Amino acid sequence: MILVTGGAGYIGSHTVRELRSRGADVVVYDNLVTGHIEAVGDAPFVKGDIFDKDLLVKTFQDYNVDSVVHFAAYSLVGESMTNPAKYYRNNVAGTLSLLDAMLEAGVKYLVFSSSAATYGDTGDGLITEDSPQRPTSVYGQTKLMMEQLMSDYDKAYGMKYVALRYFNAAGAHISGEIGEDHHPESHLIPIILQAALGLRSHIGIFGDDYPTRDGTCIRDYIHITDLADAHIRALDYLKSGGKSTYYNLGNGNGFSVKEVIETARRVTGIDIPAKVEGRRAGDPATLVASSEKIKRELGWDPQFDTLEEIVASAWKWHSSHPHGFAK
Ligand code: UFG
Repeated sequence: MILVTGGAGYIGSHTVRELRSRGADVVVYDNLVTGHIEAVGDAPFVKGDIFDKDLLVKTFQDYNVDSVVHFAAYSLVGESMTNPAKYYRNNVAGTLSLLDAMLEAGVKYLVFSSSAATYGDTGDGLITEDSPQRPTSVYGQTKLMMEQLMSDYDKAYGMKYVALRYFNAAGAHISGEIGEDHHPESHLIPIILQAALGLRSHIGIFGDDYPTRDGTCIRDYIHITDLADAHIRALDYLKSGGKSTYYNLGNGNGFSVKEVIETARRVTGIDIPAKVEGRRAGDPATLVASSEKIKRELGWDPQFDTLEEIVASAWKWHSSHPHGFAK
């Protein structure tokens, strides 16, 4: 049995779907502060906080859990800069509580949702796992510290983990039944599509004076189902005796903010209004992944490898659920 913390959130719920569609037994553990119960579907669910070590240990025992996929975290870069304590407390101290509960219950395998934010500003080239990790945000710093905790628990107690460093998670399940629903929404693709639906007057482009081909920031967008698949491969790897490691997850292609808007205009057929605004603090100009390591070692092969497909899947969700999971 696999316990998924944060399994009611965006990336967690898509991974739960994928695990269950492949026959795995899953229990979702989420405090529903940012997650949505509707996203859990009919998977077994325990409402709980990662700080509640006793409830975690009990859940591990009740469900005979042998592995954990850990998504539960706060993830707004901007908020992490103005309220660092919230991020250190929840993400770092919360993970410590989870690791201690795993130790107590004898759960040995952990797949962890890390982030490109652990690298910070690295320049133009493809980012490999050996690129220096110098986070520019508190959020990125907490993810790096969480990786460090896991590494130390492996050395001390033999707990095995895989840290997956995602670039820009995007898109929605092909069914259109679950998708991205953050309050407030801060991510580019959902905001563009909300503008397409008339829920916002326009999409604001955060800066067009970056050193990139059209002056707007370049990111590597990776489909949520391809991310989910990587978690499943990482779990299988650990359970077959693999040693602790970390992988980047991206498509290896960068798209500028303007290119994403153009793609969304083509996909939706709507002339989405856009306006150039000032830069957003902490945005690196370019973040593009090399994912050669996970392709080579775990055979991961992203299926949604065009931005059109990724945006089209997001459009299917947003156009059928303009207000997200809210009725
Ligand atoms: N952007 C806009 N207008 C908007 C929203 C975003 O121009 O209204 C731009 C941003 O400035 C950025 C790009 O679109 O250049 C992508 O922004 P997102 O907020 O969608 O994603 P980020 O690249 O900031 O964030 C991603 C992950 C985070 C992670 C972060 C680390 O989604 O979880 O990378 O760098 F923390």
